[in-house]
Amino acid sequence: MLEDEFVDVFRKAKRGVGLDDAALAARTGIAQADVTAWASGAAVPSDDEARAIARALGLDPGKFADAAAVRWHPDVALPDDVRHHPHDPHPSNGYLFFLEDGKTAALIDPAGIPQTILRAIDEGPYALRYILITHKHADHCDATAPIARAFPDARIVMHRADVAAIGELAKNAIPIADGEELPFGDAAAIRMLHTPGHTDGSSCFLFRSTLFTGDTLFAGSVGGVFGEKSGYRDILDAVRTKIFTLDDATVLMPGHGPPSTVAEEKAHNPFF
Ligand SMILES: [Fe+2]
Repeated sequence: MLEDEFVDVFRKAKRGVGLDDAALAARTGIAQADVTAWASGAAVPSDDEARAIARALGLDPGKFADAAAVRWHPDVALPDDVRHHPHDPHPSNGYLFFLEDGKTAALIDPAGIPQTILRAIDEGPYALRYILITHKHADHCDATAPIARAFPDARIVMHRADVAAIGELAKNAIPIADGEELPFGDAAAIRMLHTPGHTDGSSCFLFRSTLFTGDTLFAGSVGGVFGEKSGYRDILDAVRTKIFTLDDATVLMPGHGPPSTVAEEKAHNPFF
């Protein structure tokens, strides 16, 4: 299952460009009742109808029609140096990635019941160097305090614009900026890409050929726009200029839903 179904993509694009059902009906010549039925998930448009709606919303017509007909699902394996754990009880993804020694590790998004994360770290067992936080929403960082307490040597890394969400711990966090790298092992580094829009401080983290995208990019969709200073155009621009410029083979590990790749998203994500 993709994180976002057709109806989610439709609603996000409508909100993003600021067109309601009546405006979309007027622009496409489609009955407003049909537009409303599609936007509520009660019905699905035909290929031609989906293409007409996509053109009015600035989406890719063919990819949007494919989303309506559920013709695409990415089939991407987890890289060998990444472990995934669902954030019980949140419906979000947590990840650990590690160096060749199979020990030195970094955690993406401490959230949910801490025991779930502690168990995942214990499985290595991993020596945690970094706690990397993609953004301020609770389902991505509400377990920061217990994880930081359990691993006092691990450095918390979070963009300034979002860091208030972790309270007192904010003063210990590394305030990373766009393009900066964190040393990790002898030959490896973790690069942060600032991708505002979902939140102002939304961050993606690149390790070798894997990018952890938080809620900026989902397979076949983008995150909802909740930024105070950044918006719909910013999130689309960030994906275009910072993610789609990475190698096509880069594996994308989102904060929700299945993994994808840069090539798959270029070919199938209706927003681009
Ligand atoms: Fe989020």
